[in-house]
Amino acid sequence: MEGVQELLELAHKPRMIGSINRSWKLKNKKFPYSCTDEEGLMLYFTIVENNFKSGFEIATAFGYSTAYLGLAFQKTGGKCISLDCYIEEFKEDFLYDENELISASEKIRLEIESGNLPVGLDMAKNIAQRLGTENVAEFRVGLSPNNVPEVIGERKIDFVFIDGGHFGEQPTKDFLAVLPYLSDKCAVLFHDRKLNNDFVEKLKSFPLRRDSLVAKASIVLRFISGRLLALMRY
Ligand SMILES: C[S@@+](CC[C@H](N)C(=O)[O-])C[C@H]1O[C@@H](n2cnc3c(N)ncnc32)[C@H](O)[C@@H]1O
Repeated sequence: MEGVQELLELAHKPRMIGSINRSWKLKNKKFPYSCTDEEGLMLYFTIVENNFKSGFEIATAFGYSTAYLGLAFQKTGGKCISLDCYIEEFKEDFLYDENELISASEKIRLEIESGNLPVGLDMAKNIAQRLGTENVAEFRVGLSPNNVPEVIGERKIDFVFIDGGHFGEQPTKDFLAVLPYLSDKCAVLFHDRKLNNDFVEKLKSFPLRRDSLVAKASIVLRFISGRLLALMRY
């Protein structure tokens, strides 16, 4: 990933972190932050070891986690779609309410229509090109949950990475948006779950059928970083 990292900068001061336990950001934006390389490797190996073929990601930011997804799906012969509404680079903050989300998304959509791509989308495409994964990872602009059905379409998904808005009901909404599309064997990974500790309890309380994902799912891993949670259905 060195050829990718030279385009970015570290999100934290080096003294706080180990060589792969560090997040990245765009050079000219305060936010968003990426997953760490350690977490990226966990995404990579979850896909490769399970031979997953069809991935979906909320959200792209500037394509750092998508780089790991792209390399993994390249290895398995699969493909993935990454969705983002680019609110964090627009606001340069990770805190926003639903009204801001909708109004910012509309402004960003108009900017895109007039030919100005979000910096993160431009970077994500550049990174994919550097890694040779441009035919593996497809980048889409839109909001979760609103645009998830049209973006996924008729596909079945066997790997999901949920890393969009981390607060309130957003992770729950993201999860419910992808639930109808999940394959029989699948994994759904959530990032920064520590920011939303009651999320797992909420998952258990959904009124879902006994054979649904949550009823069968076991929380198989609470990864080293403590920030990644995986639900898997075998
Ligand atoms: C932490 S960043 C994602 C980092 C990325 N997965 C990585 O590791 O490189 C969170 C991203 O979620 C996006 N986002 C937040 N709420 C969203 C929503 N409802 N729909 C789509 N994207 C959203 C933000 O614009 C931001 O780019």
